[in-house]
Amino acid sequence: MIRFSGLGKQYGSVTAVRDLTLEVQPGEVYALLGPNGAGKTTALRCLATLLAPSSGSAAVCGLDVTTSPLEARRRMAFLSSSMGLYGRLSARELVAYFGQLHGLEGAALGARVAEMVELFGIGDFADRLCAKLSTGQRQRVSLARALVHDPPVLVLDEPTLGLDLVSGSATHDFISRERGKGKAVLFSTHQIDEVDLLADRVGVLSRGALAAEGTPAEIMRRAEAPNLARAFLALVGDAPLAEGPRT
Ligand SMILES: Nc1ncnc2c1ncn2[C@@H]1O[C@H](COP(=O)(O)OP(=O)(O)O)[C@@H](O)[C@H]1O
Ligand SMILES: [Mg+2]
Repeated sequence: MIRFSGLGKQYGSVTAVRDLTLEVQPGEVYALLGPNGAGKTTALRCLATLLAPSSGSAAVCGLDVTTSPLEARRRMAFLSSSMGLYGRLSARELVAYFGQLHGLEGAALGARVAEMVELFGIGDFADRLCAKLSTGQRQRVSLARALVHDPPVLVLDEPTLGLDLVSGSATHDFISRERGKGKAVLFSTHQIDEVDLLADRVGVLSRGALAAEGTPAEIMRRAEAPNLARAFLALVGDAPLAEGPRT
């Protein structure tokens, strides 16, 4: 459902992503785990058609994101903290506006907006301007906005960044729910606990390249590490020295 095939992206002389190949199936949650600067955002922005790959390709539901960007975008939700909300619209207006952009109108639009307000617990602040919302509230509105067209593919760039425990765990619940509906979910993170909690499979990204891929258990086994955190550190080359025996 999501496929990267040898995707590479350079910014001038900087190689941000190199030869990235991975697939995410329907009903699967895949975590792209990597430290700051590993290339997570770049890879996800290429998939979301916001950046043009320098080499290789990416596809959503069999649609190449470079040759069929509009068709591909219709099938995915993209969430990123760098995407602002329109501060002058209320939460409800914003969700409705994005519904309209996706071709919803009339009663169908009204019903869908009401559903999103309910689903993301936006009711209490639905009529407040986006500019006046807290970080956690903005996150809920961002998710509602990204999902208003009910796409089969979810692409989430560090979805819990900056959220408190309650909002973060609401986001985790939401991701699990979407998996239950058969969606393909690709999210990036640098937080190990989130991977442990949510991911069916994980790809460890280090300096733009996939250093390892598998279930969390497979990654630990391959890195001969007692837990995912140690495996991650070993794989990204920052393993602390002399910290007890390696198992
Ligand atoms: N617009 C840009 N121009 C030049 N270099 C960039 C740009 N965006 C990101 N980079 C570089 O590409 C690499 C990967 O960045 P990024 O994809 O943001 O990583 P991550 O999301 O994992 O933190 C970093 O070395 C970063 O400095
Ligand atoms: Mg990033």
